[in-house]
Amino acid sequence: MVAGMTQSHLRISKAVIPAAGLGTRFLPATKATPKEMLPVVDKPAIQYVVEEAVSAGLDDVLMITGRNKRPLEDHFDRNYELESALQKKGDAGRLAKVQESSDLATMHYVRQGDPKGLGHAVLCAAPHVGNEPFAVLLGDDLIDPRDPLLKRMIEVQEQRGGSVIALMEVAPEQIHLYGCAAVETTEDSDVVKIGDLVEKPDPADAPSNYAIIGRYVLDPRIFDVLRKTEPGRGGEIQITDALQLLAQDEKVGGPVHGVVFKGRRYDTGDRGDYLRAIVRLACEREDLGPDFRTWLRSYVTEEM
Ligand code: G1P
Repeated sequence: MVAGMTQSHLRISKAVIPAAGLGTRFLPATKATPKEMLPVVDKPAIQYVVEEAVSAGLDDVLMITGRNKRPLEDHFDRNYELESALQKKGDAGRLAKVQESSDLATMHYVRQGDPKGLGHAVLCAAPHVGNEPFAVLLGDDLIDPRDPLLKRMIEVQEQRGGSVIALMEVAPEQIHLYGCAAVETTEDSDVVKIGDLVEKPDPADAPSNYAIIGRYVLDPRIFDVLRKTEPGRGGEIQITDALQLLAQDEKVGGPVHGVVFKGRRYDTGDRGDYLRAIVRLACEREDLGPDFRTWLRSYVTEEM
């Protein structure tokens, strides 16, 4: 460690991805397949999230999984049988696609056991994370790779310390689907100071229309807070409630700031948004886009 540097100034290198959810919104597809493995075009949704962590410089990834999540581990591991079959065929293109996910990052897994909520899932990362700031990426939120959000959040955490969450303005009638933050402006136009947080408020009680989207850069002192956090909304231990405690008393674990995101985000946990993500990303792909756009245009004009 460089002299004068404290633990909280270490370069952030660890990403935590909670992936223990049941995915009931996608039944029957998710009866025997984890929701994180559903493809967005031709890549499982979870691979986009791991790629996002890696491109923000985080190459140590811990997934919080549960029963029936074995395909996630297999996806980020080698598949020698498939690799040797493709090698024999001389299919270098597909071989590279198979190897891509196992070469991405150093992967670690821990099982959540009881599904006691997002805060509890994050707490399962404590032994692995230790005493360093770390990032949390929620698998249902897909951030367009061209709109880097996490890199900016890490930069803000390095400048200001404490914890940093990602926020997006949503229509007031949507706020009950999210954690909601009361904010004050700062001298940086995309950074706000968080004063208050509420998990999924009724629209009448919402302090603003700033919604938490699933990216967090957290001070490790949040683990102590999570250990004491009582179940909240839905009877679950909520990360929002632990952050609320931090926001209200900076002495506990430093300040909480928000980075306001104005880029493209898809909620792949919602069926409509999942379809929109596939259509948009397919349209923009060099290999599939030109033909798909032509078809889509004629489909929309002729059939709708
Ligand atoms: C979680 C968080 C919520 C946040 C949301 C973002 O809720 O608890 O604060 O706004 O992710 O996607 P979930 O959607 O898992 O119910």
